[in-house]
Amino acid sequence: MDLIDRVAVVTGGGRGIGAAIAQGLARAGAQVVVADIDAETAERTAASLREWGGSALSGRADVSRVADAHNLVATTLERFGRLDILVNNAGICPLATIEEVTEDLFDRVMAVNLKGVFFVSQAAVKPFKEQRSGRIINIASVGGKTGGIMPVAPYSATKAGVISLTKSFASYLAPYGVTVNAIAPGPATTDMTRDWPADRVQAITQSIPLKRLARPEDIAAVAVFLASDKASYLTGEIVDVNGGLLMD
Ligand SMILES: NC(=O)c1ccc[n+]([C@@H]2O[C@H](COP(=O)([O-])OP(=O)(O)OC[C@H]3O[C@@H](n4cnc5c(N)ncnc54)[C@H](O)[C@@H]3O)[C@@H](O)[C@H]2O)c1
Repeated sequence: MDLIDRVAVVTGGGRGIGAAIAQGLARAGAQVVVADIDAETAERTAASLREWGGSALSGRADVSRVADAHNLVATTLERFGRLDILVNNAGICPLATIEEVTEDLFDRVMAVNLKGVFFVSQAAVKPFKEQRSGRIINIASVGGKTGGIMPVAPYSATKAGVISLTKSFASYLAPYGVTVNAIAPGPATTDMTRDWPADRVQAITQSIPLKRLARPEDIAAVAVFLASDKASYLTGEIVDVNGGLLMD
């Protein structure tokens, strides 16, 4: 139980990778605040953690709204008195070719995936500085390094931005003993990829040396490690979890 007494916030924790990370952190002993734009799924994840014997709360937060981002951290501090681990996982990935991308789609993807990561992290800066400890774990994507292997150009650009934000926050917060890292998963079996054409998924799977998509648990295991004391000398790092799809 590496994370006993630690308080964690997971955005987009209602399902998929976020739900798996929330579960991994709870199993390691953390008290978890599951935040999601969908309050029902957030509560479902939190309830499953409580049923298992963990300590978890849920709350609705739209990370693209600065007020929600700040409120999420403020509520966590009110309820638990501290915040130790922030996982910026919420994200959207609409499929659209470059010709199909509208201004609304572009703005929404930027707002959730990039602005959201910035302002939720900004909200955590003050408590982390005061505690002189803390962990930020951002969920980027292999697409942030390669560009989209699917028609997701704005999405991939946000993930490149998340990689950059990871390094900026890592440098800024290092003097306070706070580490900031990102995980860059390859394609994973979640609702995000559920509607991808089967032949495309098969072709992607064949191009992955380990011959399968990521499972949410593959990403959760690395997130739990990054949150633990074992990772205390790692910061500004982008951890690829992609079955060998990109080796850099
Ligand atoms: N699935 C993949 O192939 C894959 C690959 C690389 C990276 N990722 C990244 O992993 C993260 C999780 O993806 P997933 O596959 O679990 O997706 P998912 O669609 O299954 O889950 C995303 C969760 O985020 C929530 N969410 C969406 N917009 C939100 C907002 N504005 N505020 C708060 N919550 C919001 C959703 O309600 C949902 O619960 C994302 O950042 C995604 O970009 C996913």
